[in-house]
Amino acid sequence: MSDNKGSYYITTPIYYVNDKPHLGHTYTTVACDVLARFKRLDGFDVMFLTGTDEHGQKIKQAADAKGVSPQEHTDFFAKNFLDLADVMNISNDDFIRTTEERHKKAAQALWSKLQDNGQIYKDSYSGWYAVRDEAYYAEDELTTNEDGKKIAPSGAECEWMEEESYFFKLSAWEEPLLKYYEDHPDFIMPQSRKNEVVSFVKGGLRDLSISRTAFDWGVKVPSDEKHVMYVWIDALTNYITALGYPDINAEKFKEFWPADVHMVGKDIIRFHAVYWPAFLMAADLPLPKRIFAHGWWTIEGEKMSKSVGNVISPYDLIEKYGVDASRYFMLREVPFGNDGDFSEEQAVTRINAELANGLGNLAQRSLSMIHKNCEGVFPEQGALTAEDSALIALIRDDLMGHMRRELDVQKFHEALRYFKMAVDAANGYIDEQAPWALKKNDPPRMQAVLYVLAECIRCLGLAIQPFVPSAAEKLLDQLKIPADQRSFAHITADYAIKGGVEIDKPEGVFPRIERSEAKEGQAA
Ligand code: MSP
Repeated sequence: MSDNKGSYYITTPIYYVNDKPHLGHTYTTVACDVLARFKRLDGFDVMFLTGTDEHGQKIKQAADAKGVSPQEHTDFFAKNFLDLADVMNISNDDFIRTTEERHKKAAQALWSKLQDNGQIYKDSYSGWYAVRDEAYYAEDELTTNEDGKKIAPSGAECEWMEEESYFFKLSAWEEPLLKYYEDHPDFIMPQSRKNEVVSFVKGGLRDLSISRTAFDWGVKVPSDEKHVMYVWIDALTNYITALGYPDINAEKFKEFWPADVHMVGKDIIRFHAVYWPAFLMAADLPLPKRIFAHGWWTIEGEKMSKSVGNVISPYDLIEKYGVDASRYFMLREVPFGNDGDFSEEQAVTRINAELANGLGNLAQRSLSMIHKNCEGVFPEQGALTAEDSALIALIRDDLMGHMRRELDVQKFHEALRYFKMAVDAANGYIDEQAPWALKKNDPPRMQAVLYVLAECIRCLGLAIQPFVPSAAEKLLDQLKIPADQRSFAHITADYAIKGGVEIDKPEGVFPRIERSEAKEGQAA
């Protein structure tokens, strides 16, 4: 449809290629994919970016440990992330790798711009650094463990570092940042993360070391090739590289910058909500509209991560539940923004209750009755009773408004709660109206009820597409909805189910998960 509502740019963090992707990485990407798909279906021109972060000491060390060159190492692991995006049905418009030439050019251009603006000076750095986090820490942020080692709040071990370095004048941006947070209350979400960032900045910002000389796996500093850029200034630039930076007149840059949402995990909020806006202000560029930091998937309370060694592979999940149910579970189970402990038991319960028994059963029993009792064609719309109109109003008129509002503030779980309420209402309606009983005593009313159900399933199928794209497609195919009538603009009476359209024998779209199987196959 041509009712373009404007542009929408959403990004995932770019993932370190030190190992294979796990459930935590998949979570961020799926969340962004749902928003990207939702906005496209809602009439926006969308740019959705994901990719890989391939430079820095951590990647260099991982390559050394495997005895391969960093480039070979990153080529191999970047492919893992690309393949997973494909398997998870991710609709990204671009995939950026920081080892690409377009990116090196952009990172160097941003550096030069900062330098021209008097934001960079050369000095020497001495202080603590955690390779695992690729982050500098102040002494008072650290604890000392029994071996006398300095430990960052993330649990990463720190090492003392002393080297010549370029610095970014971050301290000069303390006041402008605080003012920006105040003037833009929705810039950092959720509120708890915003409070954390504000208090960090109020605690005082020190200038930031932005180059390294101890190794050379990075983007070279323009005009001083002994230095490579600190991996975070390199990585953050990816968000504008993909739009054509340094050409700020590039079509994509003009259309999509500033970004609508940078989605990140809470572990990297400081880089996105402090350093990135400071770099942008210092380079005279507009700031993104929102940084949303979600919580972690944990296992028995501990963050799922390679270094802890407690990761769940997304492939295990897909094998057990399928892609759609895995996507649904991730976003339904935990309020977005909070941490969530992963449990097989809960996954099976949720998927069976809400997909197999909820939407799946609603569609299967309604379409089966139509196929059997209406000669395999949709009945015509009959006279609507108050109950019929109430259900249609809830599902066709109200549902999208709720989902839109919740997703605009990244409340995936709330959007899905409204969706579930709508499915429950339809299942309640079918039980109350009991079309199987009407078959004998009042066939015209049975047909009217089945029509209402078919129309509601159409609207539910359209609304749930961003979350479970393949299952929704299968359902809409069974309803014979033309491919060009599947946007949210079609959730109106004008595009309602038409009587007389022939349907095939329906097939279930959400298989029930057998609990014992899920347990037997429990992931390591
Ligand atoms: N390379 C940096 C990001 C640079 S963005 C300019 C990085 N990479 S990462 O691979 O370590 O993590 C990226 C993201 O993965 C996290 O911010 C978070 O979104 C996601 N997650 C990693 N582990 C996670 C969980 N256990 N749970 C949920 N999400 C997690 O940081």
